Amino acid sequence: MNFFTYKKNKFYAEGVAVERISKEVGTPCYIYSHKTLTRHYAAFDEAFKSVPHLICYSVKANSNIAVLNTFIKQGSGVDIVSGGELFRALKAGANPKKIVYSGVGKREDEIEYALKTGILMFNVESPEELRTINKIAGRLKKKANFAIRVNPNVDAKTHPYISTGLKKNKFGIETEQAIKEYIFAKNNLKNLVPLGVDCHIGSQLTQISPFTDALKKTKNIIATLRSQGIDIKYLDIGGGLGITYKDEDAPHPGKYGKAVIEETKGLGVTLIFEPGRVMVGNAGILVAKVLYTKQGTEKNFIITDAAMNDLARPSLYGSYHAIKAVRKNSTKEIKADVVGPICESGDFFAKDRELPSFKSGDLMAIMSAGAYGFSMSSNYNSRPRTVEVMVTGNKFKIIRERESYKDLIKGEKI
Ligand code: LLP
Repeated sequence: MNFFTYKKNKFYAEGVAVERISKEVGTPCYIYSHKTLTRHYAAFDEAFKSVPHLICYSVKANSNIAVLNTFIKQGSGVDIVSGGELFRALKAGANPKKIVYSGVGKREDEIEYALKTGILMFNVESPEELRTINKIAGRLKKKANFAIRVNPNVDAKTHPYISTGLKKNKFGIETEQAIKEYIFAKNNLKNLVPLGVDCHIGSQLTQISPFTDALKKTKNIIATLRSQGIDIKYLDIGGGLGITYKDEDAPHPGKYGKAVIEETKGLGVTLIFEPGRVMVGNAGILVAKVLYTKQGTEKNFIITDAAMNDLARPSLYGSYHAIKAVRKNSTKEIKADVVGPICESGDFFAKDRELPSFKSGDLMAIMSAGAYGFSMSSNYNSRPRTVEVMVTGNKFKIIRERESYKDLIKGEKI
């Protein structure tokens, strides 16, 4: 459910015409709906209201501090994967006690930053990392809370690039080894405190069973650890719940909630979730202007002012994003590729898509662009990164200025 709709023939973000925003801030532009963001958070939170839980929104999905602040105000914690994300989260007002830190390659300075901040826990992904955290905590005379991210060898049944729970993936520590590491830490790594067990098997999951399969395995680990006198207070299930981009039958958070609660009944832990996409994906659109149209003998092309540097998902994963006319003024359809100005054939938003017959100057809304859209954008082809706008009711506000040419060479020297 989101708040992007047509009123008569014009496309609106909540109470504001997308055309009006685009005129004022230019294109391409990202537009987020505040009401959609808060609704998504509330739906997720509601799904777990009967059990102790903590939502740690996954910053990487959309890291604008206005977006982070929206969730933080609703009570959210954050899941971070870098010092940069920690910095953002703190700027946005995050409570350190609600921060979990994931990622396979945490640098020493990042670990130190997180320890000084006093985060809830590190989700540790290798034995060497565990020792490094212990060493740094000792140097700082601090105790570091940790969970081991377990690799449960479960197939998330999603795109291979965003599947993370199989032994061949770089993520986490395999079950048997993870248990040994908890025991080793208990006996030898005195600056560490085991607080939880963590597991994140992938992103854009549209089935519940991989989650419950992974939960079964993590539950066994918790039981084994407890039998060894290692108390586990948190079970971090990661993120990964999918959304509908086209016709995927993604489970509602309520359904996901039921299954997770059932599977973790009586476990006596606080559940942690790291949702990203399900919070922001359908709460954002990318608006592009048609620059040119071109008819070839094999293909029609619609060339927009947005490109793969603004939204990389179609090029990277072949992802589908619905495309809508910001002003409906023709019933005629054409089959076309929607492409950007970047010098690569992988620079496309749609291929052989039936679309309204866009002409030069028309605006289009590229839908479901709130997750992994702006946060994965780049300056490739020396294109300034685009402006981001938040709509709340009948008002809108720029939450990140469009970059200038000067920004492009910031810090560069001849
Ligand atoms: N926790 C961890 C440890 C993660 O690695 C991720 C995402 C999440 C939580 C949030 O997952 P979500 O709820 O958003 O599925 N760029 C790709 C997605 C990469 C996901 C990376 N990790 C895309 O555009 O589809």
